Amino acid sequence: MRKIDIFDTTLRDGEQAAGINLNTAEKLEIARQLERFGATIIEAGFPASSPGDFEAVQRIANTVKNSTVTGLARTVTKDIDTSWEALKGAEQPHIHIFLATSPIHMNYKLKKSPEEVVELAVDAVKYARKKFPLVQWSAEDAFRSDPDFLVHIVNKVIAAGATTINIPDTVGYATPVEYGALFKYLKENVTGIDKVKLSAHCHNDLGMATANTIAAIENGADQIEGTINGIGERAGNVALEEIAVALHIRKDIYGFDTDVNLQEIKRTSQLVSQLTGVVIQPNKAIVGKNAFAHESGIHQDGMLKNPETYEIITPELIGEKAVPLALGKHSGRHAFKDRAISMGFDLSEEKLNEAFVAFKELADRKKEITEDDLFVLFTDQQIDS
Ligand code: KIV
Ligand code: ZN
Repeated sequence: MRKIDIFDTTLRDGEQAAGINLNTAEKLEIARQLERFGATIIEAGFPASSPGDFEAVQRIANTVKNSTVTGLARTVTKDIDTSWEALKGAEQPHIHIFLATSPIHMNYKLKKSPEEVVELAVDAVKYARKKFPLVQWSAEDAFRSDPDFLVHIVNKVIAAGATTINIPDTVGYATPVEYGALFKYLKENVTGIDKVKLSAHCHNDLGMATANTIAAIENGADQIEGTINGIGERAGNVALEEIAVALHIRKDIYGFDTDVNLQEIKRTSQLVSQLTGVVIQPNKAIVGKNAFAHESGIHQDGMLKNPETYEIITPELIGEKAVPLALGKHSGRHAFKDRAISMGFDLSEEKLNEAFVAFKELADRKKEITEDDLFVLFTDQQIDS
């Protein structure tokens, strides 16, 4: 089975989300958890961007040994030198250099011609390779770049010594068919593409980051980049837990594997949410509070007869304890009785019916029926009997 490398950028692209600011101790705690989660590479920050980021990247590089640690750099020697100082203590020093290749970025942001951009990228990669054994080069806004220009510049940076080529959809504009086709095109047209790692990096502006990332894998990506809980600039990056679980649950069609320890997903997600302060939407795939909650009577009845009727992923798979069936106004008698028994109440059918009527009345008034509410309802009937 082909193994897909997981490049985690929670601490760099993720931290770029508005309102997030992690200190070194918090970053280190997340990095250690990412190591347990099974990230192949951890992008710990952007060492030249601030003394705080430098310190965090250095601490993580010197501490984390089971994942490769990297830092982001522009194509300037100062950034590469600073990154080396931060990363030289790592097991396998890795640097991530980026430069934009789309017409809009080259004309308006960089104010450089395409050939000047090629020269800058090549010089930076050659310079970095004098120190770093592993050099990733990213074509920022690759998806909106001219595919033939991408082929040209990628050929040149591979010849300059890049060991990984990353093709980001920086603004989340791609559709799965288009993004997959770009990977296929690069695989077919770049000389030596099979000697380097090809990486996908998707943003979620149109809500297509997960589908785009999977399309890249199907078309030859060896590595995928994303964040825990999908945090990141604007609508965020692809959520790594979604990719890891999708590849696992649908191995029958994909046939790809990762080193992610699925049992660590819930813990990692909660730690990232707690330390960044970014609340996870309740219906978020895999890690949302409601991801395993079944409320309607028909679904609950099916679940009690055979959980596979409505559950394709078990909470235990991601390290979450079994979630009791949610009880609310849509719930049925079957789930209600089941909960009474699991809470230790042995009520006659008549008493159970009375409790169920009282429960439905309460559920019409109250959004969430808690364990305490149920306890009172069941106890009332027990006392009456
Ligand atoms: O989205 C992007 O293009 C990036 C690059 C720096 C890789 O995050
Ligand atoms: Zn990005």
